[in-house]
Amino acid sequence: MDKMNVLLLGGGGREHALAWKIAQSPQLGRLWVAPGNAGTLSVAENLNISETDFLAIKQVILDNDVHMLVVGPEAPLVKGIREYIECDSDTEHVKIVGPGREGAKLEGSKSFSKDFMHRHKIPTAKYGKFNAKDLDSAKAFLDSLNPPYVLKADGLAGGKGVLIIDDIDEAKKSLEEMLVGGKFGAASTTVVIEEFLKGIELSVFILTDGKTYVLLPEAKDYKRIGVGDTGLNTGGMGSISPVPFANEAFMQKVKDRIIEPSVNGLKKDRIPYNGFLFIGLMNCDGDPYVIEYNCRMGDPETESVIPRIDSDLVSLLAKCADGELENAQIEVNPETVTSIMLVSGGYPENYEKGKQIYGLENVNGSLIFHAGTMVNQEGAVVTNGGRVMTVTSYGDDIQSALNQSYSETQKLYFEGMYFRNDIGFDLD
Ligand code: AMP
Ligand code: GLY
Repeated sequence: MDKMNVLLLGGGGREHALAWKIAQSPQLGRLWVAPGNAGTLSVAENLNISETDFLAIKQVILDNDVHMLVVGPEAPLVKGIREYIECDSDTEHVKIVGPGREGAKLEGSKSFSKDFMHRHKIPTAKYGKFNAKDLDSAKAFLDSLNPPYVLKADGLAGGKGVLIIDDIDEAKKSLEEMLVGGKFGAASTTVVIEEFLKGIELSVFILTDGKTYVLLPEAKDYKRIGVGDTGLNTGGMGSISPVPFANEAFMQKVKDRIIEPSVNGLKKDRIPYNGFLFIGLMNCDGDPYVIEYNCRMGDPETESVIPRIDSDLVSLLAKCADGELENAQIEVNPETVTSIMLVSGGYPENYEKGKQIYGLENVNGSLIFHAGTMVNQEGAVVTNGGRVMTVTSYGDDIQSALNQSYSETQKLYFEGMYFRNDIGFDLD
């Protein structure tokens, strides 16, 4: 088989982990990451273009004979990168990993995804969807639920569009701010109100070609900034894979009740889908319910999931793009992988960038996946975002993997560096 040139879009820890794995493939020709970070530079060539600059992306494909485009984040997918590349006779031959605009709506529109689940009888929280003209019925729906109340802006809101509120009056006030006051701009012209699900969360991932699927390792992520899962929501402070409660019996329920009806639902609705599908689940007393779909891999879950995949990723991705996943197999490393996210002081609120990162050369026995980093004009690796990098380690069990990650973390320093010291506290 000819070697494949790959262009990967994105610049976070997820993309460094994907690039690290893609770079190990004997099938790889050249690998570019746009825009990438200081970490992807060690395994690929970075391109200084935005992941949503479709014109520039197309030019890169043409200039470099790119054979496969792998889309890391949701924004280009929701904006229609697949259609842009696929519908142009100059680039229609390119393999694309990532769904089209319609499939990406599973993430881009909460009401679309809730209606999809309802239509295909996929277990999820009871819900209603409302516009500004439905304010009274929306309030009546809130009255019919028990606290806490879950309000979701329909569209993408940078991970901030979900409010969970204990008090009914406050919930009604926030609802009005979203629908009438433009709290999340256009994203909240429609609001989904949901029943609150009590349980423990789990992230499940598949690679699908819209006909069949390959199950990837599951993971748990830790979203809050503070110890004990307290404080503000972040992009994710750490992850662990595998997850002990996702045992065979539970995962069988996930396959039967959620994954298969989801893939079949896409087929029935005639929504082509070649790419990753991330299913955020709540385990409610042993039964899985879908919290959300994402049309991409999770971050920082990917940093713990990808290192557990022993199979060649380029060949799996090519099969996914070509609709040939039917007999694809995936070999999974049974070890545990943990990722601790190092973040900038002040994150997820205001933080400074440009802080030099010390000690990278001393890390051994763990992987470092860069997120918000860059190489400055003097050639130093500096912070360039809120989430800076993960310290990712293998172990025979959660504790030994965590011990390794935390011990290597001691070797790293940048001004303001913060991390949670209790990743995995709720497992075992
Ligand atoms: P989402 O953007 O839909 O993933 O929501 C963000 C977070 O809010 C989820 O990861 C959950 O922790 C929480 N959440 C969302 N919907 C519910 C629900 N119906 N019940 C309980 N928690 C929820
Ligand atoms: N870690 C959650 C996400 O990527 O959305």
